[in-house]
Amino acid sequence: MKFFIDTADIDEINEAYSLGILDGVTTNPSLIKKAVEKLKEKNEKIEMSSYIKKILRLTRGTPVSLEVTETEYDKMVEQAKKLYKMFNPVAFNVCIKIPVNPAFEGKGNEFDGIKAIKALAKAKIPVNCTLIFTPEQALVAAKAGARYVSPFAGRVDDYIRSMNNKEFKKEDYFPSFGWKDGDRMLEDNGIISGIDLVKQIAEIFTKFKIKSEIIAASMRNSRQVREAALAGAHISTMPLYVIKDLLKHYKTEEGMKKFSADVVPEYRDIIKK
Ligand code: E4P
Repeated sequence: MKFFIDTADIDEINEAYSLGILDGVTTNPSLIKKAVEKLKEKNEKIEMSSYIKKILRLTRGTPVSLEVTETEYDKMVEQAKKLYKMFNPVAFNVCIKIPVNPAFEGKGNEFDGIKAIKALAKAKIPVNCTLIFTPEQALVAAKAGARYVSPFAGRVDDYIRSMNNKEFKKEDYFPSFGWKDGDRMLEDNGIISGIDLVKQIAEIFTKFKIKSEIIAASMRNSRQVREAALAGAHISTMPLYVIKDLLKHYKTEEGMKKFSADVVPEYRDIIKK
């Protein structure tokens, strides 16, 4: 499984890439907003295009998803082509993020995202299709030529969990096998958890030999990453805290404490020599 970091914060990207095992970056307008706010707090000058170029150089050889902000077909395609032309030559690693369906509050056309994916795929621009919440959305995006599809597993869990008003923390584990409220299984149109969504997409893609890669997105904790891998996701995109979480176990920490305390000088000294 490939690991992407889900952030636009250059310090976080730097820290994650220092591990030497990162395979890509995903950003979105909210993550860019967060990064800009951090720079503002530090009174740092914001020059967005050189900031993005820095990220692209730092992550050379691995894809970085940049999302369009327009919501109409022509404008999305125009903006995507502009973004690609402006930034891809920096390190040849730009991927354009397009929402599966850009319509909201009765405005916009539900076909525009898919039509944009089709046009960009024709122009050989790699697309990460975002905001996927059903297997059928993933299937349509793949048919249009999306290089990646991004089911938002964590947000599915947040939504299902909120059905019975349970309070929860963002990083809490939600069972991949679903949650019953009395006798009733909580679900969203046949999806019982974020991992169930990833699993159903993976099954369909395997059945029809679809080449698009599945990015398990909106990951909340390390167990969810494990389950996304078992469900057949090709990639997990995670915030930095989840990447750190992948390495944690209380018995590992306890073992480290004991091993450190047990180092005898006889052994330490031969290593020193
Ligand atoms: C995916 O590409 C998105 O940027 C992301 O995973 C959304 O995660 P969130 O639900 O934690 O905002």
